[in-house]
Formats: sequence, C-alpha cells, structure tokens
Amino acid sequence: MEDKLQSIRERAAQGAKDVATRADLESFKARLVGPKGDLTGVMKGMAAVPKEDKPKIGRLLNEVKTELESLFSELLRSIEERESAARLGPPVDPSLASPDGGPGSLHPLARVRDEICSLFRKVGFSVVEGPEVETEYYCFDALNTPSDHPARDLQDTYYLPESARFGNVSKKNRERYLLRTHTSSVQIRHMLRTAPPVRVISPGRCFRRDTADATHSANFHQIEGLYVDRDVSVKDLKAMLDYFIRSLLGKDARTRFRPHFFPYTEPSFEVDFSSSHLEKLGSRWIEIAGCGLVHPSVFESVGYDPEEYSGFAFGMGIERIAMILYGVDDIRYFYQNDLRFLQQFA
Ligand code: DAH
Repeated sequence: MEDKLQSIRERAAQGAKDVATRADLESFKARLVGPKGDLTGVMKGMAAVPKEDKPKIGRLLNEVKTELESLFSELLRSIEERESAARLGPPVDPSLASPDGGPGSLHPLARVRDEICSLFRKVGFSVVEGPEVETEYYCFDALNTPSDHPARDLQDTYYLPESARFGNVSKKNRERYLLRTHTSSVQIRHMLRTAPPVRVISPGRCFRRDTADATHSANFHQIEGLYVDRDVSVKDLKAMLDYFIRSLLGKDARTRFRPHFFPYTEPSFEVDFSSSHLEKLGSRWIEIAGCGLVHPSVFESVGYDPEEYSGFAFGMGIERIAMILYGVDDIRYFYQNDLRFLQQFA
C-alpha cells in the first residue's frame, strides 16, 4: 500500500508537467481521483489493510490526497494565468518612452478662456457654469426674448426632439429643450440662486445652426459676464471692458461702443476695439462683444428689484478673440485636431 501511494505521488509529479490546458487537467484529475482513478483504487483497498497498519497508511493516504488537491489548484491557477495573458496580448513595458514623446498641452481655446477668466478674477469676478442643454425659459423667456425672436426659430437653433423632453412632466409644464445658443442663460440660473451683489463670468460651449465657413461654426464658445449692484452705470461697464481689452490686447488698445439691440439689456451696445493686433488682420476696428445694462424685466424674472439694483452684462466669443490674438484666419482650425496647428500653441 505504502509503495502504491509513493508511486502515485511520483506519477502525479511527473504527469503534472504535461498538463497545459483545462482538458489536460480534467483527464489528469480523472486518472488520479476519478471513479477509476489510482488514488480511488487505494482508498477502496483500505478495507483490506491489516488493522495495525491502518493509522499509518490512512495518514499517508490523507497526505497524498491533500498534496494532489493543492497540485490541482496550482495547475488550474497557471492555466488561468496563461489564458489571461493570451487575452491581453504581449506584455507592455510601462517604462518605455511614449512614441510621440512629451506631455500634452492646452488647446488654444482653453488657453484663451483661462486667460480671460484670470483677468476677470483679478477684479473680483468668480466663474460659474451652466448646462449646455437648456430650456427655452433660461435661454430666452427669462432673458426678455419674445417667442417671435429669430434666435428661437427652428432654422437657427437646435431643439431636442419631443421624446427627449422629460417624460413625467405634465403636458402643460413641458418645456422645449435646446442646445443653448448663448451663455446668457447662466445669468438667469445664477441670479435665481444668489442675492445681489453679483460679479460672475461664465465660459462655455454654445450652438447655433450655422453652415461652417472661415468665421462660422455650429459649435463655438462664449464668455458671459454679469455685474449687479446698486447704482451701476454705463460708465462702470465701459471701464470694466476697457480694463479687460487693454489687459488682453495691450495698452494701446481702444474700445468703441456702438448702439445696438439685445432684448435683455437696455441700453445695449456692440463693442469694437482697435489695436496693433489688427495689423495682422488688415483692419482698423473689430467687433469683440455685445453688452449693455441689464433690462429691468430680466431682474423681475429672477426676483431682483429693478428699482434697487442695476447692472451690466456682456458676452463675447472665445474663438473670435483667439483668432485675433493668434492671427488665425479660419475658425475651423480650432476643431480639426491637426497637431501641426495645435503644437504651435504648446
Ligand atoms: N448673448 C449675446 C450673443 O450671443 C451676447 C451678449 C450681448 C451677451 C449682450 C450679453 C449682453 O450679456 O448684454 O450674441
């Protein structure tokens, strides 16, 4: 009996070397511990072992059994490791240099956005953000923009399909959802949750149905500004934009306000600037922002008292500013992810 058990041990150690797959392992196990297996045979023979030898043989039998069990699980583990290595492919050496080398860098639009934010932070503004998918209320109604305003036209704006409007809202309260056409919607969101005074800027992505060309893109970025306090006048607005434009474009930059119309400001202006940067673009004055004093009905829609508070707001396109700063003549370069273009700003 003892000899038999010893030889099972040796054959198991020998046979384990040929086990490479799960099928090999199954037949290996069957040969040893299956119904007709060698060890099973020995166990069956225990009845015939003389009584005085039983404890010794029994102990040895248990030892061999335990050894075989750990051998089986060891074999299964190495089979699993091989299988997972095969799934993962050749080993990766994380210490190798990356083929394109060097860290990434900020996209030029992100650079310009950050620069603008830091200039406004210096004069007490904080940065707030709002969602890119908006309701008509935040984008238009609360901004005193009537339902016949062209910005609300299907031709100009991306509306979400009916099915995307929130399911369990009653028909009466259903709002149209759209991709925001400007960041002015964040003014409303911010005023609804904050009491005056307010000094915020809000950068973000906007969308309009535009055919892409050198100066238009259906996807673009804006920065919105809002300042609310007591006794705010056009003088404050002009001083703030002058500070901003000179800091960004150089001390020789000058601004010019032209009367304009925006539903959410009264009076409203378009701001042009002139500076040495423009020589790159061969022009004297360039429009850079829209602005004005916040319209009383905007204050009313957020629960501010227009008799007590006044404020100014402005909005500008980040792409446009980046094009001016860097002398880029086609907006599409910003979105093509061409490294030859992007690396110039790294
Ligand atoms: N929302 C305007 C646009 O998309 C920009 C703008 C104009 C924002 C005047 C303002 C503002 O806050 O007062 O063209």
